Amino acid sequence: MLVIGVESSCDETAVALYDSEQGLVGHLVHSQIDLHAAYGGVVPELASRDHIQRLIPLLRQLLNDSGHTLSQIGGVAYTSGPGLAGALLTGAVYARALAWALEVPALAVHHMEGHLLAPMLESNTPQPPFVCLLVSGGHSQLIRVDAIGAYTFLGDTLDDAAGEAFDKTAKVLGLPYPGGPHLSRLAENGDATAFDLPRPMTDRAGLDFSFSGLKTAVMTTWNRLSQQPMSDAELDKLRADLAASFQAAIVDTLRIKCERALRQEGLDCLVISGGVSANRHLRTSFDEHFSNTTISAGSTGGASTVDVVYPSLEFCTDNAAMIALVGSLRLTAGEQSGSDITVRPRWPLSELCCPGANA
Ligand code: KG4
Ligand code: ZN
Repeated sequence: MLVIGVESSCDETAVALYDSEQGLVGHLVHSQIDLHAAYGGVVPELASRDHIQRLIPLLRQLLNDSGHTLSQIGGVAYTSGPGLAGALLTGAVYARALAWALEVPALAVHHMEGHLLAPMLESNTPQPPFVCLLVSGGHSQLIRVDAIGAYTFLGDTLDDAAGEAFDKTAKVLGLPYPGGPHLSRLAENGDATAFDLPRPMTDRAGLDFSFSGLKTAVMTTWNRLSQQPMSDAELDKLRADLAASFQAAIVDTLRIKCERALRQEGLDCLVISGGVSANRHLRTSFDEHFSNTTISAGSTGGASTVDVVYPSLEFCTDNAAMIALVGSLRLTAGEQSGSDITVRPRWPLSELCCPGANA
């Protein structure tokens, strides 16, 4: 079955074609970064208006580029939550109208299930069971994956998500939107040991996260030190050192909790997905640490090092390939959504574990 994927939950308009037998045929992403940059963050109304203008030409281009026609389409999958209500509606209405016109089934997809399964777009597909660290702008979750749809929640954030902490901290340091990638680039020139920032909630049992205190620690340090007389070069160094120290603290915290989750579950495969999994320091730090870490995994209890799997960079941040993939898996398993067009700006991923909750 050839499945169209449509993603419009926030500030990327994306379409994809996924063949249930052959895998990903192609995908296109239009980023709205330039549109929102002047406002320092996403303006929901502008996002919706732009999605409406982009969706049709983007799909037309994808079909042309891949040499396919609408008559070959067997299903349409689209993100119906979580995300910005207006932005979600543009993709939902477009996808549902398309499915209706083509007389093929449509499927409402949970955006975070897309991120969760994005590593399966690669040739080196991780095989369940594994632990997934889902780190995006709105989520920081540890999930045990036993099969498609068989998810057990191990830990969640009590306040800010990891990406949100990156974005808010970037704002504190005066960096432009989107904060995460800017902060990460700046951190490459900084000294990560310059400031001893907390590794929140690592000194107590459990797998939950809390990042708002870390952001506040950066804010108070920055507000205190940046007021002092200093040259532009010194101010730049302060900013880079704080960025690097913050990044090290958040990555250490994520890594410590991941190791704890793997040991608790007796698993030796770790998947990291969502926008923050694009972070270069995170990848280096996780790879270095886990290549030297052994876990007693499996029924035999034999010790093995941890396999860490990331989606390639193009599938870490928002894209429609991951939505088409989930659509293909669920549509070929016989699922399809009802006739009403609804979106769910707030949609806990935990509901997917209950049969029928995602229809
Ligand atoms: O998955 P995603 O594209 O959208 C959501 O579903 O939220 O994730 C976006 C988040 C933003 O908070 C962004 O700042 C963060 O991922 N992000 C990064 C990096 N690239 C994106 N954070 C740190 N380092 C990066 N390189
Ligand atoms: Zn996302």
